[in-house]
Amino acid sequence: MKNNLAPAIALGFAFLAMTSCSKDPEPTVIPPDANTIIGKYLNLNINQLPNYANPGYPVHYSNNILANDNAPSINRVTDAGAVLGRVLFYDKNLSRNNSVACASCHIQEKGFTDDQTFSEGFDGGLTGAHSMRLGNTNFYTGDRMFWDKRAIDLEDQSTMPIKDHTEMGFDDSVGGIDSLLRKMKALEYYPILFEQAFGTTDITEDRMQRAIAQFVRSMVSTDSKFDRGFAQVFNPAAPGAGDGAPFPNFTPQENQGKALFLSPPNAGGAGCAGCHQPPTFALNANSLSNGLDLGETTVFKAPTLKNIGLTGPYMHDGRFATLEEVVEHYNSGIQPGPALDNRLRNPVGQPLRLNLTANQKQALVAFLQTLSDETLITDSRFADPFK
Ligand code: HEC
Ligand code: HEC
Repeated sequence: MKNNLAPAIALGFAFLAMTSCSKDPEPTVIPPDANTIIGKYLNLNINQLPNYANPGYPVHYSNNILANDNAPSINRVTDAGAVLGRVLFYDKNLSRNNSVACASCHIQEKGFTDDQTFSEGFDGGLTGAHSMRLGNTNFYTGDRMFWDKRAIDLEDQSTMPIKDHTEMGFDDSVGGIDSLLRKMKALEYYPILFEQAFGTTDITEDRMQRAIAQFVRSMVSTDSKFDRGFAQVFNPAAPGAGDGAPFPNFTPQENQGKALFLSPPNAGGAGCAGCHQPPTFALNANSLSNGLDLGETTVFKAPTLKNIGLTGPYMHDGRFATLEEVVEHYNSGIQPGPALDNRLRNPVGQPLRLNLTANQKQALVAFLQTLSDETLITDSRFADPFK
């Protein structure tokens, strides 16, 4: 097999040398038979990487939306970085006993979550929260990750499951991430993939974080029934860029649900879009909690609502099995507490009661089902690369 990579890298280095001049890059050691080595383990041709860096957005992902991408300038998505992230995401070697990968709890065909209330980690222990759907994480302007926002950004989040004593098990008792880094050096595909992504074979936690974050940020949802409808009526000059107009591809019930989702309660709607913002359906960064428990003090976030209809259960503790239960919560179940958002209070500060009819509740559920994105959940760029 011919290796086209070495000249490409040499060119890249020549370019770097001309532009930055800071210090000479370390010489490449990607072996000439790199692709053969990779091919022993992975369905990947490292000379022809899939495109992650330039996804090509539809019209209704306007510049205003794209400006919200939370990728830091030091970690823009590259094809080689995202490919490395994809291998890491699917690699069970990243758990202490080779039993669990990120993808075990973030399953592509389920919208990168799972259908368990709590998920099983490497040793059979259960996570303390329900697995979060992944998709459009790059459009969450609050940056912070996890239901309780304890990770400061996607990079920070990326290796936390690996070091978690329940999830993947590289905690202090086994020497932490350093023992994993030693294990990875012995896996012959990693030096090649790290060199291709970052210029040298060094395997570090920082590089793992950057690569995994690039891969997760690439999981963008732009092709649900909602998106195809919005693209047809998109009008940048109209309020909401025209999302309030009936979508030609929607049933009357789906359009009714859309109107309820988008309109605020004081205009006869359910006010959902005040927090779950179209077209990404990432949560508004200023959102507080949604009143699940009386006296709640923790401010929770939600992942995107894209692919919400693929599987329950819902909320940080997976308390609701169905979307009907979710809608009923917003209709009649909101509990007061310090963390309850004002958007879910009435004008005198009490929990909002929407008093929706049965038809309206069904319409909201029908609308939520239009957010499923077959393209994202079948896209080979996000599938398991291992043989
Ligand atoms: C054992 C199951 C399990 C494994 C393995 C796992 N996760 Fe998760 N993931 C979860 C759970 C549960 C949550 C929510 C945890 C919380 O908020 O406390 C979560 C949350 C996340 C989030 C936050 C999303 C958001 O919108 O805030 C990201 C990103 C993520 N995981 C990526 C990964 C990556 C990358 C890996 C592998 C390095 C991984 N997960 C491994 C179960 C898992
Ligand atoms: C004040 C902001 C806010 C408003 C308004 C709001 N939500 Fe939420 N939503 C949240 C938060 C925060 C969560 C995560 C709560 C948790 O798990 O602790 C959430 C979670 C959800 C979930 C579960 C997500 C998951 O991954 O399990 C669904 C579905 C949902 N909301 C739908 C709706 C609908 C439908 C409406 C309108 C009737 C609505 N939301 C209005 C803030 C809001």
